[in-house]
Parts: sequence; C-alpha cells; structure tokens
Amino acid sequence: MITALYPGSFDPLTHGHLDIVDRAAGIFDRVVIAVLENPSKQPLFTTGERVAMIRESLGDRKGVEVSTFSGLTIDFARQVGARVIVRGLRAVSDFESEFQMALMNRRLEPDVTTVFIPTSLRHLFLSSSLIKELAEFGGDISEFVPANVVGPLKQRLTAGTPRP
Ligand code: PNS
Repeated sequence: MITALYPGSFDPLTHGHLDIVDRAAGIFDRVVIAVLENPSKQPLFTTGERVAMIRESLGDRKGVEVSTFSGLTIDFARQVGARVIVRGLRAVSDFESEFQMALMNRRLEPDVTTVFIPTSLRHLFLSSSLIKELAEFGGDISEFVPANVVGPLKQRLTAGTPRP
C-alpha cells in the first residue's frame, strides 16, 4: 500500500492540479492532497475554503483525500505514512526549485521519494497566479479551473471584496 502526498498551495485548484491528482491516483494506492497553511503568504482563499473547493471538485474519485498542514512537508509526509511526494512539473523553469526542494526533503527523510509528474501539454502554461490575474481583469477562466471554482474566484477578485 503506497501513500503519496501531493502538497501545494492550491490557491485555487486548477485543471492542471486535477490532472496530476488523477495521474497520481492511477499509480499509487492512496493520494493525500495537502494544502499548506502558510501564515507568511497572503492567499486569495482561506485553507478551509481551498479544502472545501478541492473536495467538491474531486467528486467521487476514490483513494484521494484532502488535508491541511503547516510546517515542513516532510513532517506531514511522515505523519500520513507517505513514501512518495508528488509534484507536477510544467516547464524547465519549474525544475530548479523543484529539484532543490526534492533534494532537501530527501536529505531530511531518505525513505521518502519525490516523484515528478509532467503536466499535460494542455496545462503547460497554467498557474494559479496567472489564472487569478486573468480573472481579475475579466478574462474567461472557465477553461482553466473546475466549474465550482469559477464563481468563488470571480467573486473574490471583484473590486472591493475583502480577501481573507
Ligand atoms: O503550490 P506551491 O506553492 O508550489 O507548493 C509549494 C509547497 C507547499 C510544496 C512548498 O512550499 C512546501 O513544501 N512548503 C512547506 C515547507 C517545506 O517543507 N519546504 C521544503 C523543504 S525546506
């Protein structure tokens, strides 16, 4: 039984993230999506909102769970019994920082292996920050995020709506 941890900010979840979840779920027995609670970042959505949106987007997918964590990813990987950390790779530009993080995590816990899953060509250019910018200026985001994320994202980015 291999558990894989898929950590990230997911602010908000995109179709690119869901693609990685599906691929990971096709390989590993249990996938734990872990939403980072990071007090030093100013997120668009609270961790509770992000978890609720992810759960709704997952529908009836089997073998996939959603949790929040704070602190080090590797500590949370140990806590949930994960032997694998999954990260999606979009382009070469992702590689350096992802490689650094993977090596640091390996140093902290040699028994946990980071596995990179390449994103599909369709999602190559997708990022949560780009989508937020698109939404902020009235662009159509429905192609890039799950249907249940479209409304909250547009609403949150409407001028005058306070962020959490
Ligand atoms: O979706 P993101 O923002 O690219 O995810 C980054 C994340 C949450 C995976 C990374 O920042 C992280 O693991 N943060 C927790 C602190 C940690 O363990 N850092 C790496 C080793 S020092």
